[in-house]
Amino acid sequence: MPSTPPEGEPAPRDGALPAAALGELDAALAGRGPRHGFGVYVHVPYCSSRCGYCDFNTYTAAELGEGVSRSTYADQAIAEIRLARRVLGDRELPVATVFVGGGTPTLLPLGDLGRILAAVRDEFGLLDDAEVTTEANPDSVDARSLQRLRDDGFTRVSFGMQSTAQHVLTVLERTHTPGRAVASVADARAVGFEHVNVDLIYATPGETEADFARSLDDAIASGADHVSAYSLIVEDGTRLAARVRRGELPDVVDAVAADRYVQADEALAAAGFSWYEVSNWARPGGECRHNLGYWRGDDWWGVGPGAHSHVRGVRWWNVRHPVAYAERIALGESPAQARELLAPADRLVEDVLLRVRLREGLPLAALTGPGLDVASRVVDDGLAEPAAYAMGRLVLTLRGRLLADALVRDLLD
Ligand SMILES: C[S@@+](CC[C@H](N)C(=O)[O-])C[C@H]1O[C@@H](n2cnc3c(N)ncnc32)[C@H](O)[C@@H]1O
Ligand code: SF4
Repeated sequence: MPSTPPEGEPAPRDGALPAAALGELDAALAGRGPRHGFGVYVHVPYCSSRCGYCDFNTYTAAELGEGVSRSTYADQAIAEIRLARRVLGDRELPVATVFVGGGTPTLLPLGDLGRILAAVRDEFGLLDDAEVTTEANPDSVDARSLQRLRDDGFTRVSFGMQSTAQHVLTVLERTHTPGRAVASVADARAVGFEHVNVDLIYATPGETEADFARSLDDAIASGADHVSAYSLIVEDGTRLAARVRRGELPDVVDAVAADRYVQADEALAAAGFSWYEVSNWARPGGECRHNLGYWRGDDWWGVGPGAHSHVRGVRWWNVRHPVAYAERIALGESPAQARELLAPADRLVEDVLLRVRLREGLPLAALTGPGLDVASRVVDDGLAEPAAYAMGRLVLTLRGRLLADALVRDLLD
């Protein structure tokens, strides 16, 4: 979720979608167009403290003051889920994936995430094999709360492990210890979660190759079946950026980040994980279907402050602040702040941007003349696999993945 949304056009106060988008949806439901999965994302904008590197839309209790609190949040989210149902009418749209992210969803009172999930189930229905994920900070859960999540229907947990080197966690201003992150994964597995992700951050100032090797080993040995690994991004306006600017910490070095990426890919591949998106690896069957839905251009409704949604080329985003969000919900209005209607050419650009990062690759049919020339050059340069290219898809090699962002720009120029 970008920290600064685009401007867009005003969104209607009742949340209504344009007739063209609903028409496209109806055509798909009637079998006359591509049938996409339907996902629900729920953003929980609360954290107990803010990590120095993080610019996500999240708030501590002290930052929010008296007006809103995490104890009343579930009812607001449930109200938006009901609004989503009204906007989408009685179309049959059983939900394939639910992802509760944050912030720290597991800071809500015990049982509230289950109530939110029950509202999704009541309003839309859940497919029998629906994937239901929540993010969790390692020190915000224990065996009892994880058991409750499992009992309430969650099928997957995603932990922010980040690193298992204490000095790296200290630079990141994380509140958990290395041992707590590993123990949380074990607790999740013990209460019956088959699917567990751990997030790692690499190239943090002061992190050595040996530190990252140990973090990877610990993540692999923890029992997780999915690892997301991202280079630390020094976001403007964060405490981390201020420390780098003052010279207290060195900046992230691109060449180090590239070395760490290769290190991650080698260690994870050796342990039976395969990459399926540039920054995501899974054991067979452990891929996150919700995120695959984003990357493939599926439809999803984003609930909560600052959440983004996408239905058939209409993209909208909610007001960012929890107080503004609560006010809209209390008035019975849509919390959408603005929206964009993507023209067919914009949809094609998005498709290229997202799909080129996937192991399944970008269908060459999505490219126009100059893009096709770039694709053939990319294969000649060893950045995409010749065999996949011969079958009509652009699939990046390891070197190509290291250059993915630049490569996307070239394809779209
Ligand atoms: C926003 S957090 C939400 C999950 C949970 N609150 C946590 O931190 O464990 C999701 C993930 O985004 C990643 N992330 C956030 N800010 C980042 C940054 N500046 N650079 C790299 N990764 C970042 C972290 O790996 C984190 O686990
Ligand atoms: S706990 Fe997660 S969401 Fe909260 S500040 Fe830290 S990284 Fe950001």
